[in-house]
Amino acid sequence: MTNIDHYAVFGDPINHSKSPFIHHHFAEQTSQKLHYSAQQVSAQQFNTQLTDFFARGGKGINCTVPLKEIAYKAVSQLTDRAEYAKAVNTIIQQPDGSLLGDNTDGVGLIQDITINHHVSLKMSNILILGAGGATRGILAPLLAQAPKQIIIANRTPSKAQQLALEFTRKIPITGCGFSDLPTQQFDLILNATSASLSNQVPPLPNDLLNKHSTCYDLAYSNKPTPFVRWGQQFTDKSLDGLGMLVEQAAEAFYLWRGIRPVTQTVIQDLINARL
Ligand code: ATR
Repeated sequence: MTNIDHYAVFGDPINHSKSPFIHHHFAEQTSQKLHYSAQQVSAQQFNTQLTDFFARGGKGINCTVPLKEIAYKAVSQLTDRAEYAKAVNTIIQQPDGSLLGDNTDGVGLIQDITINHHVSLKMSNILILGAGGATRGILAPLLAQAPKQIIIANRTPSKAQQLALEFTRKIPITGCGFSDLPTQQFDLILNATSASLSNQVPPLPNDLLNKHSTCYDLAYSNKPTPFVRWGQQFTDKSLDGLGMLVEQAAEAFYLWRGIRPVTQTVIQDLINARL
């Protein structure tokens, strides 16, 4: 490895990762010298590749699908937010060489919704679709915004109920199936299912949103995702996770380099690239 600081994103598949573009943009903007690569790493290869990367002088790693839960088990220390999420998307090498696992996905989501899109979540009614790792990663940061209530709806209702029980403190959280959703409107609906990957939208009634509501797909794609298109029927604020992707990267960059990059220009570049 060269004497320039080296970072990487590990994932499988990783071909279309935008992370190298984003981190090189941040580095240029903040006059930091670093190289950031995308490495195809399967779940089976993860532990070996992780050790090898840091043994060769690497400074930090991002993990994406399907490695976040494996990374959670591989590191020696965890931040509170990674512990809540039971998933790690950012690994930081500590001065003594040990590896600290963090999770910047939730903070990236909140930053995008509340700052970039000016949507306050205080006293809001939130519906989350899906009860897998993505939902687990965003629950604690969403609760920290002091919403009025959170409902988790999932294809397998028992998983939603279980997750709700685990996170319930002062703010009411309930879990249910898509067909037992209460008849009410939501200020925010988040799609944290992997349904978009198979070009599907969870089966939802048409009266969940009004024109002031926000619809947000944690996934992103060069074309509007099926869920973004579903939300566009009801509100102008039907967003995908591109901003979240950039914001979680900015938080990782800050953890590694101690400088917070400006995100607006890179978000705009990525939007322009897909026009
Ligand atoms: P992730 O880590 O991305 O959250 P996951 O843990 O595999 O991935 O969870 C995927 C989520 O998407 C689950 O909530 C899953 O529902 P089940 O718990 O019933 O499996 C949901 N999901 C996947 N495909 C779906 C589809 N076609 N329609 C609705 N929900 C779907």
